[in-house]
Amino acid sequence: MTDASNRAPICARPPASGGGASMAAAVDSGLATSPDAQAVFSRIAEQYDRFNAVSSLGIYRHWLRVLVDEAEKAVDQRRSVQPPRVLDLAGGTGEVAFALVRRMSDIQVVLSDFCRPMLDVAAERCRAGVITRAQAGRIQFVQADARQLPFADASFSALTCAYGIRNIPERDRALAEAFRVLEPGGSLLICEFSTPPAAAWRRLYHLYLQTMIPLLGGLLTGERAEFHYLRDSIRAFPHQRAFCEMLLAAGFADISYRNLTGGIVALHKAVKR
Ligand SMILES: C[S@@+](CC[C@H](N)C(=O)[O-])C[C@H]1O[C@@H](n2cnc3c(N)ncnc32)[C@H](O)[C@@H]1O
Repeated sequence: MTDASNRAPICARPPASGGGASMAAAVDSGLATSPDAQAVFSRIAEQYDRFNAVSSLGIYRHWLRVLVDEAEKAVDQRRSVQPPRVLDLAGGTGEVAFALVRRMSDIQVVLSDFCRPMLDVAAERCRAGVITRAQAGRIQFVQADARQLPFADASFSALTCAYGIRNIPERDRALAEAFRVLEPGGSLLICEFSTPPAAAWRRLYHLYLQTMIPLLGGLLTGERAEFHYLRDSIRAFPHQRAFCEMLLAAGFADISYRNLTGGIVALHKAVKR
């Protein structure tokens, strides 16, 4: 297990039709879902991207770039598998999936989330042209619960998950599923809000979480209560090393993490051996 923090910052229906014929595929995972997170994200889906951009002061784009850099390295190691397939788990409105197909011209991406309105926004963004039609043609939308994925064993070269894992109550089940669907040698990349190690930065960040997240969320979406949930889910998420332990328990090897923006976000990497 490696702490890279001291290095330089290493619904059961398809989304609304359109956005490219190849994007319409959807699968019902058939599992009763967690009503809290699903209800929260259903209510804020339309405003989610704007909230993300504003509340992170635009830093979200930097975190996204780092995640996609790492995904590219992971896919490069698996080029022998044709074509490389990447699963973006809890992919929401598609930001990570879009960045992946923009960066890598030969990959297929499955954008999976259990919240239909988030996938609908992603499909709408495709129709609006945030990516080209050819790029959109390499994304498949699948509505599924991360705790019971409708994919065959060993079917992905890499798996990304950005800001999704903390919303999943039974994380061990989601990690076991991630392990199952990855090929041997495949990489798991999880980007999540975390715990800044420096006390002063941590206090400032927690003050921001406490006050600004519900305030901004309320102003931008009119749904202030939902942002109490999001804030609390961030604070309750295990710190970096504790999450490494969860990855280890799920069977992953070569586990490391890298703090971004002083540990506000951590990017965990792990490999299925
Ligand atoms: C904060 S959003 C992140 C979306 C996207 N990954 C991004 O970077 O913008 C969290 C996402 O996790 C999804 N989610 C929460 N619990 C889930 C579960 N059990 N299975 C699948 N998706 C889930 C939500 O629907 C939501 O779209």
